[in-house]
Amino acid sequence: MRIVLLGPPGAGKGTQAEILCDKFNIPHISTGNMLRDAIKAKTDLGNQAKELMDRGVLVPDKVIVKVVVDRLKEDDCQKGFLFDGFPRTIPQAKALDKVSVPIDIVVEIDVPDEVIIERMAGRRVHLNSGRNYHIKFNPPAIDNLDDVTGELLVQREDDKPGTVKERLEIYRSQTLPLIDFYVEKSQKKEVNYIRLDGTFLPEEVSERILKEIN
Ligand code: AP5
Repeated sequence: MRIVLLGPPGAGKGTQAEILCDKFNIPHISTGNMLRDAIKAKTDLGNQAKELMDRGVLVPDKVIVKVVVDRLKEDDCQKGFLFDGFPRTIPQAKALDKVSVPIDIVVEIDVPDEVIIERMAGRRVHLNSGRNYHIKFNPPAIDNLDDVTGELLVQREDDKPGTVKERLEIYRSQTLPLIDFYVEKSQKKEVNYIRLDGTFLPEEVSERILKEIN
């Protein structure tokens, strides 16, 4: 199964990705997590991405496409994968077509801006694993500590309110056109397109996604 999760920042893509990848036993390919790993490792990619990500703007298409195409060559992707945060622009989606990587299902998670802003303000992450929490909606068992490792959780640099606003604007201008792109493909029966309301509890959202997929 090859799945794309589409939706604005904070829609719950990462949260749903963990559940769906577990269920279908496929790798979670989060370009955001890959870039954050590169920043931590201080690689050339990380150094190039850091300043852009902190400002909430996108990394150049050419750079991110290479990262993804390289990742898809790994063994675990041969049985399928889930993309979280990719593609994010029309050129990125077309690049997948160009290297003949078909997509089976596109899931669009729809969440209004005011809910997103509350989610981002309360999000805490475990940097090493990319695990996400929310201080109110999905708190860790012990305040501010990762459930698995017990390590400290942090707030992402790009979750500051001004940067969230910028990310929402970039989503509208650069990522929203992908909806038409994939709806058109679904009309030609090239993908299954699922759109759903992401404002329910995380488990309810997953149930709805799984029901639609089945
Ligand atoms: P990335 O890391 O992909 O960020 P994003 O797409 O903006 O998405 P988020 O991770 O912010 O949110 P999410 O939808 O995963 O929500 P989450 O599950 O965490 O990208 C970061 C940056 O990297 C970009 O700005 C760009 O610079 C660069 N980049 C990445 N990919 C790129 C690409 N392809 N091209 C170019 N540049 C790229 O949930 C959010 C919060 O809400 C959490 O606290 C969670 O616990 C909570 N929550 C989740 N679901 C629910 C629910 N149903 N109810 C209540 N709370 C919930």
